[in-house]
Amino acid sequence: MTRAPAKPVFLTGASGKLGRVLAKSLSDEGWTLVMTDIVPFPEPLPRNATFTVADLNDGVTILRLAEGCGAIVHLGGVSVERPFEEVLGPNIRGLFHIYEAARREKARVIFASSNHSIGFHERTESIGADTQFLPDGFYGLSKAYGELMGRLYWFKHGVESVNVRIGSAYPEPINARMLSTWLSYGDLSRLVVCAVTAEKTGTCVVWGASDNGRMTWWRDDARAELGWKPTDSADPYAGQLSGAVSGDPVEERYMGGAFCSLGYSRSAPAPAGLFTNGKE
Ligand SMILES: NC(=O)c1ccc[n+]([C@@H]2O[C@H](COP(=O)([O-])OP(=O)(O)OC[C@H]3O[C@@H](n4cnc5c(N)ncnc54)[C@H](O)[C@@H]3O)[C@@H](O)[C@H]2O)c1
Repeated sequence: MTRAPAKPVFLTGASGKLGRVLAKSLSDEGWTLVMTDIVPFPEPLPRNATFTVADLNDGVTILRLAEGCGAIVHLGGVSVERPFEEVLGPNIRGLFHIYEAARREKARVIFASSNHSIGFHERTESIGADTQFLPDGFYGLSKAYGELMGRLYWFKHGVESVNVRIGSAYPEPINARMLSTWLSYGDLSRLVVCAVTAEKTGTCVVWGASDNGRMTWWRDDARAELGWKPTDSADPYAGQLSGAVSGDPVEERYMGGAFCSLGYSRSAPAPAGLFTNGKE
């Protein structure tokens, strides 16, 4: 167990898949949680936790709920690819409310970003955390925006943020792509503990993936500064999963997988990288 933060932690998206995982693991650490979601919490409340139904679009309520909190673990919002109008409220306006709350409370934001903010990087690449954003849909675009919001509030207001580009946080990996992208629930929980309790973070990025041997895509992030080292690995699943591929060339070409092929309308893939001056 780590020492509990001095102030309560505000957890958004608490009723979701990862929200429920973190509600339990952070409560087990002895932390006090102020939880919210647009849908009710579907389980008995963990120890030292309160829960309020709220829409991230409702800035007044978000500001009020965050009062007195020292960190905001922000998981709430649209978590898959959806039409732009559906993403807009929770992920764009809602993010602004989260950062305004953080500014007022001098709270650190732990933002559940996503690999889909960089989804159109090819799987043959090895990219550092400072790579170009190449979002693979409106959802991924909203995550790039969220990370940039963190930079804005750090440089302008001194608000700290840890932007976790989560790969695939599942109970266990279920396809070949996840041999690279899987993040175990245990590693996720330990990462959030490190991100909240680290003395200083500035605005930084961590790849949210376990210690996967095939994890050659992502490197150079802030994990060492936060004191986080993943301990789980997708490697033991390699035998059963390496053949679990889709057969879709767009999906298999890019890090974002199936999100890249959703609604894809190019006749041939773009050349790798940005600024290729129109060369196809
Ligand atoms: N699970 C993964 O593998 C993964 C990968 C990359 C990023 N992420 C990010 O991590 C976070 C949690 O993911 P998850 O898998 O638990 O998703 P989830 O969809 O289960 O949880 C998201 C929660 O946000 C809530 N929400 C949606 N709109 C809202 C609104 N307008 N106001 C308030 N709450 C609202 C939903 O009710 C839901 O409970 C998300 O931000 C997601 O984008 C998850």
